[in-house]
Amino acid sequence: MKVGLLTGGGDCPGLNAVIRAVAQVVANHGGRCMGVLEGWRGLVQENMTRDLDLAETDAIIGLGGTILGSSRTNPFKFAERDIPLLLARFKELELDALVAIGGDDTLGVANRLYKEYQFPVVGVPKTIDNDLMVTDFTFGFDTAINIVVEAVERLRTTTESHRRIMVIETMGRHAGWIACFSGIAVGADYIMIPEVPIDIDHVVDVLKRRRDQGKKYAILVVSEGAQFPEKGMVTLHAETDAFGHVRLGGVGNVVASMVEERTGVETRCVVLGHIQRGGPPSAYDRVLATRFGLAAGRLVVEKRFGTMVALSGTRIIEATLGDAVATAKTLDLKYYDEASLFFPKL
Ligand code: F6P
Repeated sequence: MKVGLLTGGGDCPGLNAVIRAVAQVVANHGGRCMGVLEGWRGLVQENMTRDLDLAETDAIIGLGGTILGSSRTNPFKFAERDIPLLLARFKELELDALVAIGGDDTLGVANRLYKEYQFPVVGVPKTIDNDLMVTDFTFGFDTAINIVVEAVERLRTTTESHRRIMVIETMGRHAGWIACFSGIAVGADYIMIPEVPIDIDHVVDVLKRRRDQGKKYAILVVSEGAQFPEKGMVTLHAETDAFGHVRLGGVGNVVASMVEERTGVETRCVVLGHIQRGGPPSAYDRVLATRFGLAAGRLVVEKRFGTMVALSGTRIIEATLGDAVATAKTLDLKYYDEASLFFPKL
């Protein structure tokens, strides 16, 4: 059996751990793996594959990024041209199955290929945003929130020295998982997420109260997708990628200038950006990614295509790709309700 592997969309710590685990299971069953380079682009264009042998994959569990490269290529954007190319390339390479490791966009393509062309694919969910349905958590998320925590602990000392207010903008696009979890973990004075419109009057009220109580600095965590009522998301520029996503960024600076104007306290913003996606995976993410990879390898061997591995509680389960990409998983608001008890409305 010859199994292709690809990683698509924004990269995330733990991708290599999945590759390693899939390769091991396939080898255990007498098969071999081939790496498809740069996401779906690697099946549309020529000469974008390479063999993966265990000697190489065994050493990559702790490596960040992806040894296969990634892209946001959407073969359905120019479907008439690219889908026949993709199907022909897959046949030419004599692949029996494909493991697609990605977020909603990459797995959305996998789902359509399976549904419309009976393409033999198994999905593995990845994203630092943790916004994929069916799975409780995705690998990459734990690493990302730990990076935010470390950054905030560094920012805290300088913020306190200068009696400033610091706004930290996190990733997360449409879901507040990163902002909420890291905000709770650093004891943020306020957390702003895409799911709840920003109430700047309340933010300022909380900050003034804290100052009056003697806290001379403040930490605000803002998700890149947080919005002011009726204003929409703050974007870096209007262009969209092949899946129609705008490039987010800047809401932290908008919040900082509003807060400074209303409180009279010097307020700065740090946009953490891609730092949250870089570097080695945490131990938790290495284990989760390995368990996902082992389970995906088994699904491939058993020819259970159109499926995706997922985490339910502590168990790895099998889900359908269709259920996984049906809608985005926004933050479970019970976490935000708990976080909000530290910045109550009085
Ligand atoms: O999907 C993960 C993510 O990190 C989002 O949080 C962020 O908006 C986006 O990717 C950034 O993507 P890119 O690296 O393509 O700019």
